[in-house]
Amino acid sequence: MPKQVYRATLQVMALPLLASMALFAAGPAADGADKPAMKPTYSKDIAPILFSKCVQCHRAGDIAPMQLETYKQVRPWAKSIAEQVSKRAMPPWFADPEHGKFRNDRHLTDGEIKLISAWVESGAPEGDPKDLPMRPALAEGWSFSRPPDLVIEMPLTVKVPAEGQLDMMNYYAPVPFTEEKWVEAVELRPGNRQVVHHSIVNVVTLPKGLTHEQLVSGKKLGGLGWKLIGQAPGKGAESHPEGVAKRIAPGTYFEFNMHYTPTGKPEEDRSLLGLWFAKGPIHHEVVTRPAMEQTLIAGKVVARGGIPRIPAGAENWAIDGQMTVKDDITVYSMSPHMHFRGHDMKYTVRFPDGHEEVLLNVPHYDFEWQLNYEFDKPVKVPAGSTFIINGHFDNSKNNPKNPDPTSEVIWGQQSWNEMFIPWAEWTVDKQDLSKMSKEEIDKMRNAARVRDPEVRDPNEKPEKP
Ligand code: HEC
Repeated sequence: MPKQVYRATLQVMALPLLASMALFAAGPAADGADKPAMKPTYSKDIAPILFSKCVQCHRAGDIAPMQLETYKQVRPWAKSIAEQVSKRAMPPWFADPEHGKFRNDRHLTDGEIKLISAWVESGAPEGDPKDLPMRPALAEGWSFSRPPDLVIEMPLTVKVPAEGQLDMMNYYAPVPFTEEKWVEAVELRPGNRQVVHHSIVNVVTLPKGLTHEQLVSGKKLGGLGWKLIGQAPGKGAESHPEGVAKRIAPGTYFEFNMHYTPTGKPEEDRSLLGLWFAKGPIHHEVVTRPAMEQTLIAGKVVARGGIPRIPAGAENWAIDGQMTVKDDITVYSMSPHMHFRGHDMKYTVRFPDGHEEVLLNVPHYDFEWQLNYEFDKPVKVPAGSTFIINGHFDNSKNNPKNPDPTSEVIWGQQSWNEMFIPWAEWTVDKQDLSKMSKEEIDKMRNAARVRDPEVRDPNEKPEKP
């Protein structure tokens, strides 16, 4: 493999592709773990796989328990690596490879898994270090390819008690710029991964005259807002193609919506928000919303703003969502969200001509890994198309993650409550900022704030079923 290829700016995304190309180039090696001729080495064959699909987490200061960046670090783990990849427990990736092509796809091909097993079986040799590929460009402490342009700290260090059950807390940091900014990438990093269960940053408008004490009280201060990013294990930076970005208006606030889980001893956290500003002109503003306006049970529309109660012990409890698209849109990514009882979620689009296409299928959802699946090529969904979301919950005792199969489950923020949110990121094609006047843009934004049913309080209680 030509080494200079790794120097491209987009190398982080390009790596998975290159790694699989290398395997094709290796020919029979890729499909023949049993062929004695195959002598894979760390430097030549294994490092490219680990660099593109593992080190994002398995490096100093990141979420995995050990580093896999050098032969020395990898060698003691060789057997465990072969085990974990063979049962597809690592790397975490849950999209059914039958549907959708994702630029952040890190699932291993069967060939790669065989190659790793063959390498381990033959004694996990290092090979010639000259064969090593370039290390992927990853900013220290962040999963994007360069350090953030601006880091926003949570406005206080939160003291998390040793025990107890904590409500969702909200802390507000004022947006520190006086002109609008466009962010092409964003990442939320816990200050202390032991206690941050998950977190979200919304961009919200608050009433004037709030004091610092109010902003850091932890209480929800209300106001209209929209979701900038969610954080949970496995979620790194979210980024957008050139010309497409999220807009942050001056005068607004970053709302850090934090879910802490006590560890048994007092802990502290100060989470960080990394922002990467877009360099060129922006033609479309991207939004993160549920691709769902109606919830259905057995084909009947039920209460919105939550989900109906899931009966105790229910095993394969089906729920569907649906949303008809009023304008032509372009979809960039999808991120299914459920809690411990969530079993699967599938996003299908029914196009105006009636044909259907599955955009993303997650047949075995895992709450521990909240992943964002970013399309390789953004998907065009014309006006009149309908998103059909199918999901199942397993509230039975067969679900090893189920905290209590004997209880009925209601919609809620805590992980023992449930949610069903098919998050997606999209732009509206006709809202081309490069072609609109300032008045048109202002009008569009005001209309969206009033009309858009999804711009709502994330803590809103569901309607009574
Ligand atoms: C998105 C982050 C992430 C990626 C990518 C990832 N891992 Fe992991 N890995 C973890 C975390 C976190 C753990 C700790 C156990 C857990 O939470 O499942 C772990 C655990 C492991 C373990 C078990 C360690 C033990 O204590 O037994 C092995 C082996 C492993 N990973 C190998 C890999 C390999 C090989 C790859 C790439 C092919 C990979 N991982 C990719 C996050 C990641």
